[in-house]
Amino acid sequence: MKILGIETSCDDTSVAIYDKKKGIIINKVKNQNIYHKNYGGIVPELAARYHMKNITPLIKMVLRKTKISLNKIDGIAYTAGPGFVGSLLIGATISHSLAYSLNIPVIPVNHMEGHLLSIMLEKNHPNFPFISLLVSGGHTQIIQAYNLGKYKILGNSIDDAAGEALDKIAKLLGIKYPGGVNLEKLAKKGKEKNFFFPKPMINNKNMNFSFSGLKTFAKNIINKYHINYQTKCDIALAFENSIAEILTRKCFVALKNTGYKKLVVAGGVSANLNIRNQLNNMIKKIKGKVFYSRPEFCTDNAAMIAYVGMMRFKKNFFSKNSFSIKVYPKWSLSDLSYYR
Ligand code: KG4
Ligand code: ZN
Repeated sequence: MKILGIETSCDDTSVAIYDKKKGIIINKVKNQNIYHKNYGGIVPELAARYHMKNITPLIKMVLRKTKISLNKIDGIAYTAGPGFVGSLLIGATISHSLAYSLNIPVIPVNHMEGHLLSIMLEKNHPNFPFISLLVSGGHTQIIQAYNLGKYKILGNSIDDAAGEALDKIAKLLGIKYPGGVNLEKLAKKGKEKNFFFPKPMINNKNMNFSFSGLKTFAKNIINKYHINYQTKCDIALAFENSIAEILTRKCFVALKNTGYKKLVVAGGVSANLNIRNQLNNMIKKIKGKVFYSRPEFCTDNAAMIAYVGMMRFKKNFFSKNSFSIKVYPKWSLSDLSYYR
């Protein structure tokens, strides 16, 4: 039994195949960084156009490389939200068209559930229940994951996501897009104790976050100091430290309040080694266990979508004979009605 996964929520076009027995057979991603970097961020209209250009060749490539023909596919899982509406519609349209022509089910998947469960693609994965920190360009959330489809959002960013803040500050510092990754490279050369960023809401008892003030703080520093290469590195490190500390503190609160010992960290920002180090130290202190996906599955990918698709396919959690093309640009993890 095989599920074809299709991911087009943001700027990465991705196609994967999940086999019930073998797991992920292939996961291919075509990123669009070169098209967006001149704008310093993702241009939704361009993203949709490049998904349109890339999606069919990518599907063909995946089938060719695996020597799997379309009639061996049992279902198609696609990202139905959250994301840019134009981007989502490309994946949704091709998935529905293919599924209709092959007479197989189409399974709309929540992108954040994909990130949340991407850890299940690793050999070293936790069993439910666990706490998950989802840190991406669009979200910063702490989730209590009880079971497949049963998730409670314990904390959320009330303004910018952590990745969004990293990208914005990178832009202010004149660091090339993609901001988060390039900021990390500079931070590695940064000196501690030259700058200190505030840590908004770190001592609040709740598990919410606020990162937008850090952008203003960075702006003020940049205006006040002469910015050379070394100061850029120092600011990058100070900023990364602040985000890492906040994320670590809130995860600690979530683990303490629930009594759970397992923490899963997912989403693009989880690739950051400074953040991982601080989380690792905290987990060690509480004698817990932390789980990370390999880098390929931290950022946007269709493997996680194909996986969620397969889990739902096995449990019959999808509507049959659904011909209306559905996308949900704002779709909360707490509203996964397809499991009901
Ligand atoms: O999950 P993701 O690939 O896309 C979504 O937003 O859904 O996350 C992208 C975010 C961007 O903000 C990017 O700057 C950040 O992840 N990111 C990083 C690193 N790699 C990607 N942030 C910090 N350090 C990294 N190594
Ligand atoms: Zn994502």
